Amino acid sequence: MGILRSLVLLASVLSPFVRASLVIRGNVCTVVPEPDGGDDAPSIITAFAQCATDAIVAFQNTTYHIESVMATHGLRNVTVDLRGTLLWGTDIAYWRNNSLALGYQNQSVAWDFGGEDVTFVGHGFGTFDGNGQLWYDFTKGVSNLPGRPINFVLRNSTDFVMRGVRFVQSQFWTMAVFNASRVLMEDIFISSTSNSSQPARNTDGLDTFYTDNITLRNWTVHNGDDAVAPKANTSNMLLQDATFVGSVGFAIGSIGQYPGVYEFIENVTAERVSCTKCHQAAYVKTWTGKEVGVPPNGGGGGLGHARNITFRDFVVANLTQQLASITQCTTFSGTAGDCNSSLFQLSDVAWINMTGTVNTGNLAVLQCSGAAPCQGITISDVGGVVMAGDVLCN
Ligand SMILES: *[C@@H]1O[C@H](CO)[C@@H](O)[C@H](O)[C@H]1NC(C)=O
Ligand SMILES: *[C@@H]1O[C@H](CO)[C@@H](O)[C@H](O)[C@H]1NC(C)=O
Ligand SMILES: *[C@@H]1O[C@H](CO)[C@@H](O)[C@H](O)[C@H]1NC(C)=O
Ligand SMILES: *[C@@H]1O[C@H](CO)[C@@H](O)[C@H](O)[C@H]1NC(C)=O
Ligand SMILES: *[C@@H]1O[C@H](CO)[C@@H](O)[C@H](O)[C@H]1NC(C)=O
Ligand SMILES: *[C@@H]1O[C@H](CO)[C@@H](O)[C@H](O)[C@H]1NC(C)=O
Ligand SMILES: *[C@@H]1O[C@H](CO)[C@@H](O)[C@H](O)[C@H]1NC(C)=O
Ligand SMILES: *[C@@H]1O[C@H](CO)[C@@H](O)[C@H](O)[C@H]1NC(C)=O
Ligand SMILES: *[C@@H]1O[C@H](CO)[C@@H](O)[C@H](O)[C@H]1NC(C)=O
Ligand SMILES: *[C@@H]1O[C@H](CO)[C@@H](O)[C@H](O)[C@H]1NC(C)=O
Ligand SMILES: *[C@@H]1O[C@H](CO)[C@@H](O)[C@H](O)[C@H]1NC(C)=O
Ligand SMILES: *[C@@H]1O[C@H](CO)[C@@H](O)[C@H](O)[C@H]1NC(C)=O
Repeated sequence: MGILRSLVLLASVLSPFVRASLVIRGNVCTVVPEPDGGDDAPSIITAFAQCATDAIVAFQNTTYHIESVMATHGLRNVTVDLRGTLLWGTDIAYWRNNSLALGYQNQSVAWDFGGEDVTFVGHGFGTFDGNGQLWYDFTKGVSNLPGRPINFVLRNSTDFVMRGVRFVQSQFWTMAVFNASRVLMEDIFISSTSNSSQPARNTDGLDTFYTDNITLRNWTVHNGDDAVAPKANTSNMLLQDATFVGSVGFAIGSIGQYPGVYEFIENVTAERVSCTKCHQAAYVKTWTGKEVGVPPNGGGGGLGHARNITFRDFVVANLTQQLASITQCTTFSGTAGDCNSSLFQLSDVAWINMTGTVNTGNLAVLQCSGAAPCQGITISDVGGVVMAGDVLCN
């Protein structure tokens, strides 16, 4: 027999219309949208502060307008029940000036989120809408435009589950996970595509940093860049049952961008993936050993290893580049060379059991650094792949 807490926070007690932006009943905080399409971010932040422990934060089946950055951390045993659409605002100047720092590659964030034992459910229809077309048109294909925010970052978290959430037209990368372990994200739908002549560049589905034990199951990703990209210090990632469309592919890296810094990617498996009109099924990319410029668009000279990476049971269709590739040649745009200089060690990388079609003559393009030659690279059971021309392996 608990005591029922009941509280209505009023936006303005002087208003003739009572505006309740947040209704708290027991351990449930329900965010109520502003009636005039005003910024709902302050109410959402208050909801997560009021319902930060052993509680539920609920969104109704309606549209919420997010016009300012959100940081919601320190949650403990919280369920987020998203039944509506979170629609991010169109004030590009505001976002470019105010997006939060990711803490890597000079990237920035629209919603930075974290806690322990948090379950985020979308029931298959709860949606994040980043209003990305505006960003694709504004960015005009420029890589890593400063202040262009990642839609959602999970940070400093353990035991996080996300299920049944949709992400459409993300501003930049859809999601990043930064310093988290024991993460499960399943039944995730992502679609970020451009309807203009400008590309949906940098619309990665998910990038991970300092992350251990992350499972991704039943993902659908239609986008214009990497579908999933484990980066610095990602270990024990498992992706199963995914559909990628139009994507650049599943990317290991890029990594090795910070001179003298040791980073790793270890124990990654991606299995049962279908990739249609992707550039490639799965690939590995490291920066060269020579530092040119600074991150995000420059860098190099990093140390480390990527080890025990397995891509298996892929069905591909109409890949536009090749099935598989390794490049240790990533460098500042406009420069080239130093491809044998990376000390970043790649080993035990395997592409196994793939079928389908590649619309070029290249099955694989493998370029390993002479300074740290790759070890244990396997491409097997790919005899069922049909290509446009002859097989070239270089
Ligand atoms: C977690 O919070 C829910 C209420 O949302 C509560 O019923 C449950 O007992 C809490 N679990 C723990 C382990 O405290
Ligand atoms: C959400 O509300 C709309 C009407 O505003 C309704 O058509 C739709 O069925 C509702 N969706 C769910 C899943 O309840
Ligand atoms: C963003 O910053 C620029 C340059 O500092 C400034 O001119 C502009 O007014 C700012 N815009 C907003 C919306 O804060
Ligand atoms: C890093 O981000 C800041 C803030 O967005 C921006 O002013 C600066 O130009 C960026 N630096 C680089 C090298 O992109
Ligand atoms: C994440 O944890 C680090 C280390 O404890 C801390 O410095 C940082 O402020 C935390 N970040 C957030 C957003 O809570
Ligand atoms: C990572 O997150 C955990 C909470 O899950 C925190 O205790 C730790 O300090 C964070 N570490 C860093 C380096 O941010
Ligand atoms: C990985 O995380 C899951 C929860 O997502 C947990 O059940 C499992 O025990 C963890 N595995 C290891 C080896 O810690
Ligand atoms: C996979 O996720 C989609 C949402 O993208 C959902 O509609 C579908 O039911 C899920 N499949 C399974 C087997 O759970
Ligand atoms: C490689 O990683 C997989 C998980 O992706 C793990 O099951 C396996 O034990 C690892 N193998 C080695 C040799 O570390
Ligand atoms: C990779 O997997 C192996 C085998 O399970 C394990 O011994 C090793 O600790 C894992 N590596 C990391 C960084 O977790
Ligand atoms: C190869 O991959 C296909 C497609 O995922 C799967 O149906 C088949 O069982 C796999 N074959 C083996 C030998 O694992
Ligand atoms: C691949 O492209 C061919 C030729 O355009 C087309 O007929 C086929 O349907 C495509 N396959 C898929 C799975 O998209």
